[in-house]
Amino acid sequence: MMRFALFGAGRAGTIHANNIAAHPAAELGYIFDVDQAAAQRLAARLGARCPQRQEEVWQADDVDAVLIASTTDTHADLLRKAMRAGKPTYCEKPIDLDIDKVSAVVVEASAYDVSVFVGFRRRFASEFQQMRRRIQEGAVGRVESVRIVARDFEPAALAYLERSGGLLRDKMVHYFDLVPWIVSERPAEVYATGSCLIDPANVPAGDVDTAVVLLRFPSGALCTIENARRSVYGCDDRIEVFGSEGLLQSSPAPSHPLVHFTRTGIVQGGFSQSYSEESFANALDAFIRAVGSGAAVSPSLQDGYHAQLIAEAAVESLRINRPVQLQREP
Ligand SMILES: NC(=O)c1ccc[n+]([C@@H]2O[C@H](COP(=O)([O-])OP(=O)(O)OC[C@H]3O[C@@H](n4cnc5c(N)ncnc54)[C@H](O)[C@@H]3O)[C@@H](O)[C@H]2O)c1
Repeated sequence: MMRFALFGAGRAGTIHANNIAAHPAAELGYIFDVDQAAAQRLAARLGARCPQRQEEVWQADDVDAVLIASTTDTHADLLRKAMRAGKPTYCEKPIDLDIDKVSAVVVEASAYDVSVFVGFRRRFASEFQQMRRRIQEGAVGRVESVRIVARDFEPAALAYLERSGGLLRDKMVHYFDLVPWIVSERPAEVYATGSCLIDPANVPAGDVDTAVVLLRFPSGALCTIENARRSVYGCDDRIEVFGSEGLLQSSPAPSHPLVHFTRTGIVQGGFSQSYSEESFANALDAFIRAVGSGAAVSPSLQDGYHAQLIAEAAVESLRINRPVQLQREP
């Protein structure tokens, strides 16, 4: 059994807590949140301990792994403590808001032999896994363009958005990991543009709620990613990969598969109004299996860093309204 200490009992923390409790090879030992009431509610339901001070978690000798699902600007410090304690860690994306802090963590990690997995759960959605495999098998020939539409069901609260790093670091970063992973190539250039169209009062200063990013790859392939913080018809996550031999297209499944044919029209299930729980559970399972078998975890800390380098370049591009070249390997 892998006994977890979970940091953060908010939206993501609750999904992870449920998944740890449900996993046959894992158990939830501790939940720590600076919001004690949130931690206690979750701990009471799932039977975990709920220390009052963070230090109690680091001092406990029965923690096998750490899961960091707290507010983004707390990740780097918690991750550093977990690495120093020698605990394999699942860290939610992004690694931190500040790229210099991320880079310092990556450097420090090289001194330890500790697995760090970054929570890019979309890699574990079955349609994206199949898409990657089919592309590697040559199903679309040479990749020429990728088109992504990614719209959240509803905007998060302003308090969350203010500590999220903005749309490009917080949401677009998923695709800065996913696209290079799917097409096996890292971009050379990024151009980002954005607007506040949904609710300007719910957008932190300098941020946007709607964005389009264009990635250019060294092969010449192009990728557009369209992000929005809300979609009234539910969570819309679609990818199209077009190549010299054809097209692969994924689309979100309706939340229920029944189609109702009536006198006045055809009624079909809509898209989900919540995160895909399947990909969270699959990502956790991949972490547990890799750590349990001594295999390398993926997505790794380095993968998280690479995705954030693209996000930083996108933030700069949005600011100056020009394409930004991506530096090669740090
Ligand atoms: N992989 C995904 O698809 C996905 C989805 C949602 C959120 N996330 C990530 O998960 C993280 C949390 O997001 P959320 O939506 O759950 O936010 P949230 O605001 O709902 O929850 C964050 C929780 O962290 C707690 N917290 C703050 N500082 C802390 C500290 N020092 N120690 C312990 N707990 C602390 C807060 O009190 C809060 O309960 C973010 O980094 C976000 O990017 C990832």
